[in-house]
Parts: sequence; structure tokens; C-alpha cells
Amino acid sequence: MRRTSVLLLALAAVAAVAAAAPGSIWAGVYTTAQAARGQKAYLADCAECHGEALRGIDDALPLVDQVFLKKWTGKSVGHLVDVTRRTMPTDSPGTISRQVCTDIVAYVLSVNGFPAGQRELAPATVLLKQILIEPKK
Ligand code: HEC
Repeated sequence: MRRTSVLLLALAAVAAVAAAAPGSIWAGVYTTAQAARGQKAYLADCAECHGEALRGIDDALPLVDQVFLKKWTGKSVGHLVDVTRRTMPTDSPGTISRQVCTDIVAYVLSVNGFPAGQRELAPATVLLKQILIEPKK
């Protein structure tokens, strides 16, 4: 076999493993119970600026649909949790725990049409960084 074919085979094998990993956002990375908790927290801590339907108000950007997905495609769920934890709410950043931020992100994912599954989205950074926001393949 030529060296390029070997390389292509190796890449295909890596891609197959990556596709099977539970890291895909389409595999169901949060539970409906978690999203429900997240919704409560969202309504209490975020809705006054981002709106009850997550569509954004003035400078507070929308957290749903094309604008949001376009900006976040290719980035990790971990990055979204980090940004939320570090910068939101803008008037008192850092006041919401990592667990609650993770629950809120689960809710944001649910509103954006990503499916729920059997396991909760865990707040651990290493795990969250493996889950990419991406269109359905
Ligand atoms: C006091 C108003 C206010 C509150 C409350 C607030 N936000 Fe924001 N948020 C903003 C503004 C303004 C921006 C855009 C500017 C910026 O990023 O600082 C923003 C940006 C964001 C972004 C980045 C969006 C993007 O596409 O870059 C995320 C994610 C976000 N907010 C999530 C949340 C979550 C989750 C909560 C509740 C925990 C929350 N925000 C509460 C005002 C607010």
C-alpha cells in the first residue's frame, strides 16, 4: 500500500472512533430533568436581559436559532459554559455556580433542538470541552 492510502485508512479509523464517541451533541448529552432545572434558573437569572424566549433584547444577544448557532458552531459546550460562568449576568458575573450554568446551558441546548438523553451534562471542563456544537450530520 502506498503511504497516502495507509494515512487515509488511519484517518478513517480515527473518524469512525470519533463518530461513535458519546461526545456528539446529537447523542443526547443532557437530560430533560436537567433542562427543566436550567429553565427555572434561566427565567430567574437570564430572561430579564435575553428574553423569555431566548431571542435577545437590545445588546443581550439571542441564545437561539441561526445567529446563535452560526456563532457557536465548531465551539465546545464547555466554552459556552465557561463564557456564561465568567461573564454572565453582565451586572454580576461569576455569581452563578458552575453546576447551575451547566443546567442553564442544557436548557439552551434543548431550546435549540439538540436532543435530551439518559445522562446529565456534567460540569467537568474536560468532558464539556469534548462536546462540539455542530449541525446534524
Ligand atoms: C443584565 C443583563 C444580562 C443578564 C442578566 C444576562 N446576560 Fe447574557 N449577555 C448580556 C449582554 C449585554 C450580552 C452581549 C455582550 C457580552 O457578551 O457581554 C450577553 C451575552 C451572552 C452570551 C454570549 C452570546 C454570544 O453569542 O456571544 C451568552 C452565552 C449569555 N449572555 C448567556 C447568559 C446566561 C446563560 C445568563 C443567565 C445566567 C445571562 N446571559 C444573563 C446581558 C445579560
